[in-house]
Amino acid sequence: AKDMKEEDKLYRYDGVLYPSLMCPEEHLKALKNFEAREDDVMLVAYPKCGFNWMVGVLRKIIAEAKGVKTESKMPPLIEFFGPDVIKTVNEAPSPRLLGTHVHPDNMPASFRAKKTKILVIFRNPKDTAVSFYHFSNNNPVLPSGQSWDAFFSDFMSGDVPWGSYFDQALAWEKRMDDPDVMIVTYEELKEDLSDGVRQISTFFGFSLTEAQVQQIAEQSTFSAMKQSSSNSHGNMGNVFFRKGEVGDWKNHFTPKQSQEMDDAFNKHLAGTRLGAKLNY
Ligand code: A3P
Repeated sequence: AKDMKEEDKLYRYDGVLYPSLMCPEEHLKALKNFEAREDDVMLVAYPKCGFNWMVGVLRKIIAEAKGVKTESKMPPLIEFFGPDVIKTVNEAPSPRLLGTHVHPDNMPASFRAKKTKILVIFRNPKDTAVSFYHFSNNNPVLPSGQSWDAFFSDFMSGDVPWGSYFDQALAWEKRMDDPDVMIVTYEELKEDLSDGVRQISTFFGFSLTEAQVQQIAEQSTFSAMKQSSSNSHGNMGNVFFRKGEVGDWKNHFTPKQSQEMDDAFNKHLAGTRLGAKLNY
């Protein structure tokens, strides 16, 4: 990836940008026939909304409740798999921990057909944009060298990997009453992680003792996860676990950019239940 030209790092598929190396066309095409299971633990997040945080939480829940270790060197993103990995994943024992950043319309149809339980995490779009900006500049498979102003403008027009934040947020907002979908926000979990762990494990049908819930919450704080990130994420640990705070946008946004985001938020999410959960 280090030898790739910046402009070759992303390409467009069905109008949406994806990282060429991790999600080539062959991988995205293979998704169509991916076979979900009823008992898969499925995690969905727009990039930088807290995907890796929830991966850590879900791995610990599954380990405690089922005694099943789901450790893996790869993030469990189904669009990274490709046909060969899919063959291995098809053989893996349940419960499988899977995830995606793709828009719900582009998810394999089998997730809905099987009524697989899906956990979705969203985050305030201002902090999401700032996190995405730093991530892009520090991840060799994504373009770097862009200024904050240029990245912000791409974020607002949806010209960033996996597409528009607002498109995805609106699509999930419509499914808030779906009993197979649970939507949590980064902000709520920062406020009360134990409660989040309790609700998430109940949603997936795992029963944990209160002591187990507390232990998982303690092991899943930002500082705890950052500390063990060289085990979970190798030399990318500090890139995935950067700052872990609510409100870092204030260090980056100009008043004009803040207004632009407020306008977009008001247009799309104000007055919705997802909007309220983001504590915008
Ligand atoms: P920052 O860049 O604001 O620090 P994703 O996993 O979806 O790529 O999201 C990454 C963001 O989640 C990063 O945000 C990262 O620091 C934050 N994060 C990771 N683990 C966390 C945790 N345990 N608690 C709070 N934030 C966490």
